[in-house]
Amino acid sequence: MTSTVTPGTTTDGAAGTSHTRIEGPAKVTGNAVYAYEQDAVDPLHLRGVGATVARGRVRAVDTTAAAAVPGVVAVLTPDTAPRIDGSATPEQTVLQSGEVHHRGQYVAAVLAETAEAAREAADLVVVTYDAEPATTAFDPASPEAYTPEVVVAFPPDATTGDPDAAFAAAPVQVDATYRTPIEYHHPMEPHSTVARWDGDHLTLFEASQAVWSARRELAQMFGIGDDDVTVVSPHVGGGFGTKGTLHGGSVLAVVAARAVPGRSVKLALTRREMTDLTGYRPATVQRVRLGAGTDGRLHSLAHDVVESGARMAEFGEPTAVISRHLYASPHRRTSHRVVPLDLSTPTYMRAPGEAPGSFGAESALDELAVALGIDPVELRIRNEPDVDPDTGRPFSSRNLVACLRRGAERFGWADRDPRPRTRLVDGWWHGTGVAAAFFPTFAMPGSAAAIRYSDGGAGAPGRYRVDIAAADIGQGARTVLTQIAAEALGVPPAQVDLNLGDTGLPHATMAGGSAGTASWATAIVEAADRFRDKWGTDPEDAAEADGVAGHNPAMAEYAMGAHGAHFVEVAVHADTGEIRVPRMLGVFAAGRILNPLTARSQFLGGMVWGLSMALHEEGVVDPARGHVVNHDLAGYHVAANADVGDIDAEWVDEDDPHVNPVGAKGIGEIGIVGVAAAVANAAHHATGVRVRSLPITLEHFL
Ligand code: MOS
Repeated sequence: MTSTVTPGTTTDGAAGTSHTRIEGPAKVTGNAVYAYEQDAVDPLHLRGVGATVARGRVRAVDTTAAAAVPGVVAVLTPDTAPRIDGSATPEQTVLQSGEVHHRGQYVAAVLAETAEAAREAADLVVVTYDAEPATTAFDPASPEAYTPEVVVAFPPDATTGDPDAAFAAAPVQVDATYRTPIEYHHPMEPHSTVARWDGDHLTLFEASQAVWSARRELAQMFGIGDDDVTVVSPHVGGGFGTKGTLHGGSVLAVVAARAVPGRSVKLALTRREMTDLTGYRPATVQRVRLGAGTDGRLHSLAHDVVESGARMAEFGEPTAVISRHLYASPHRRTSHRVVPLDLSTPTYMRAPGEAPGSFGAESALDELAVALGIDPVELRIRNEPDVDPDTGRPFSSRNLVACLRRGAERFGWADRDPRPRTRLVDGWWHGTGVAAAFFPTFAMPGSAAAIRYSDGGAGAPGRYRVDIAAADIGQGARTVLTQIAAEALGVPPAQVDLNLGDTGLPHATMAGGSAGTASWATAIVEAADRFRDKWGTDPEDAAEADGVAGHNPAMAEYAMGAHGAHFVEVAVHADTGEIRVPRMLGVFAAGRILNPLTARSQFLGGMVWGLSMALHEEGVVDPARGHVVNHDLAGYHVAANADVGDIDAEWVDEDDPHVNPVGAKGIGEIGIVGVAAAVANAAHHATGVRVRSLPITLEHFL
């Protein structure tokens, strides 16, 4: 069984049916107020000054010319900036010492009455340095490579059996190395902050994936109580991981605001500052070794990764973790090593781990299919595990095979001639490729929701106010949580008013790890159940109840994940090597789909990220100075409409009683996983050229 939806379809909006975005009209009419636009009375404008060396110390800051610009209120330096007296990460420790960890790190800042004056003055600040030798080019053979403590939340290494011996003895072998570059998040809305101190109370309007954790971070930094920090984030123009924690710009605004009590300080980062200061996906080099029998069954699977990191703070991308879950193999190994560089710190970005790791893992599987002469869809089905290969736990539900079969049927895979470089149409080589997708299903305990009823009066229907400090970063949380609350209360969504994005609301965990909906829904369903238990279906005015999301004990018994299959057609120009993607189809199995309209958008959005990763995205760092060369959208390319012809997503029905009370698996990130491999596999089928390095650009085919 499959479901598809026509965009624009709406029914009554109950959970499981389409509902247009509640804040859609406000967004398209410009009435949705983002952080930078928040009404701040008589604000000051802030502009930072970035280091021009990659490593060393500030020797001196000459502020004379900057301070003389009309409208300048203060020029902050490491010597004069207000202090951060609590605990902060190295990237949050802004203007607290002259130490320089990476190019672009803030070394001074200007506060002025206008944005123009702040910018002019910032350009006039003269900073001199005692530079030290810096390493900014990623060399996977670096002797500095080390084993990180964790790769996000996972152990860096895992071994079962004797993968090297099993590989050596296997009748069919693939041993290949794949590379992915640094990539930047670049959400549409830049990071932006409005900060104000009133005595010891801090108010922050912030583009954030998690207002309560931002509050916690700030309270710790400044040694004040959580109640002394208010964070408000009603609308967010994309996050992708970079707005999950506070970076240097946000903290700079808070530090600067300390210098001007009672006045608001505004800061919106430029694209250039975003590449310097707000994290990125690290570069990876992945060696994948697959040993198989002639029947296609894996005997050994090893996925060994070296990735770029930062000397200033550890971040390990969980690149090989996907290889712990996708296929059965009696002997297996995954490992991660990090090479510390004098660059800013990487962070979570769009399926951290699975996105780059699936390029290596799913390209290698395609190479194995070619070596064996077995169809790549069939090869994946032959290696389908009975239980989670990593933990031995049963899957709460797993429908990868159903996704592969449905995708193959709809894409017309059965007619595929496996021979590469045999379909030349009007000067373009055509080919098709497939890859599997996996993303773990998480739920974070601890979110809370409060429900309050108000009588409609005079025969009008009553209204249910639902409060939870969740984040709508464009994924549609406001809409789907309204649908969930309505379903749990047994009323139409039109009777529910949902509030989010404010620390004045009950605690909520982050919009991250594709776990937002599951985590928040657990609290909302709990609150709604208690409301109904207490008040029945005819509540009195001001009736209230609340609920807290507990830990899901089923997570210890089952392996939980969403799955999918990507089918891609590629055309490569025979003379120029240009690459086009006429067709993309993603088929997913992700539990219950709560809002087909917005879910389809999320799947498609993820697939476009994947296309972007496959064809364009590459952060280029100047090895001499650690400077991000393509630090704007003119130089850092992302996919646009012309890159793809027909693109579609659908899903197979999946009923999973274990994941959470609404049966939904996260869908924010799985769309990207596997796309780059499917494109590379299709490009091989088209041309016979195996591209093992992203992005897949025309010179690979010449
Ligand atoms: Mo997402 S990269 O977990 O914010």
